[in-house]
Amino acid sequence: MRLPKAVKIVDVGPRDGLQNEAKSVPAEAKIAFIERLADAGIQSVEAGAFVSPKWVPQMADTAQVLAGLKRKPGTSYPVLVPNMKGFEAALASNVEEIAVFGAASESFSRKNINCSIAESLERFAPVVAAAKDKRIRVRGYVSCVLGCPYEGAIAPQAVADVAAKLHAMGCYEVSLGDTIGVGTPAKAQAMLDAVAARVPVEHLAVHFHDTYGQALANILACLERGVAVADSSTAGLGGCPYAKGASGNVATEDVLYMLNGLGIETGVDFDQVARAGWAISDLLDRKPASKVSLALRSKTA
Ligand code: HMG
Ligand code: MG
Repeated sequence: MRLPKAVKIVDVGPRDGLQNEAKSVPAEAKIAFIERLADAGIQSVEAGAFVSPKWVPQMADTAQVLAGLKRKPGTSYPVLVPNMKGFEAALASNVEEIAVFGAASESFSRKNINCSIAESLERFAPVVAAAKDKRIRVRGYVSCVLGCPYEGAIAPQAVADVAAKLHAMGCYEVSLGDTIGVGTPAKAQAMLDAVAARVPVEHLAVHFHDTYGQALANILACLERGVAVADSSTAGLGGCPYAKGASGNVATEDVLYMLNGLGIETGVDFDQVARAGWAISDLLDRKPASKVSLALRSKTA
């Protein structure tokens, strides 16, 4: 197995996780959660989303969260931005990184952002250009890379197409999202091979939801192909409000345990992440969706 020496973790828990938790979390608690993750050594912590509060009410306080956050030098705090209105709000919050989010499935694009894939790319182009102008880094997401809740299977070429357009537009990294967590390792590799033929693998990240329990296996399969950035969510929080039945992202604790076991560097303090996960889970009145976290907690209790 050829694996990268180091892997960068992007913790999307405060955004992807909390956007789909039934219990609302006050801004101060979100701030504390984000700061704990940054203190644990996570280099990129997705801090919120400037989207319509009617669509995703859990992210309505993103400006307040960013205003209260003590930002650690060297840590990124990207926020989702779907259009120029979101970009203006992000700019007013002095962000250094944003993420635009498209999909490889037409039906999911309509349900999630109310427009076709082509229209979404037309909306992102001025956002990416304006961001470049202000020296704000832009990440791109492609959703439904291994299946869509409305259309079923998605062709790897459809994923490669959107990923290539986002990369060409100026996204420094494209994160490939298995939104409903249906992928398995060989399919993940086939999808990745199709994308990597168009976008250099060092500009790709993987974003697995763990709905069918395949996320760790899929990450490992993609690391073998040279991917060195993995999105995950501490305590396995969340899901997606426009993908029924989708469970949370793969837990950061599970990914760290696997990477530590493989001797792959992350620069992240595993115990601190676990403690941050217990604190947010207690606040949400739920158990961490992470076997590693639960095992560690029962040992520590
Ligand atoms: P729309 O209704 O077509 O937009 O929604 P519109 O331009 O017609 O505007 C309608 C209203 O929204 C107006 O307000 C606008 O001002 C407002 P009203 O006049 O009705 O009071 N509005 C906004 N407000 C705040 N911020 C904005 C904004 N834009 C318009 N940026 C829109 C289009 C994109 C806005 C909407 O569909 C939306 O907000 N969607 C977001 C959905 C979302 O956040 N989904 C979850 C994140 S994606 C995800 O989780 C997947 C990912 O994790 C990867 C993976 O797992 O695959 C990234
Ligand atoms: Mg997601």
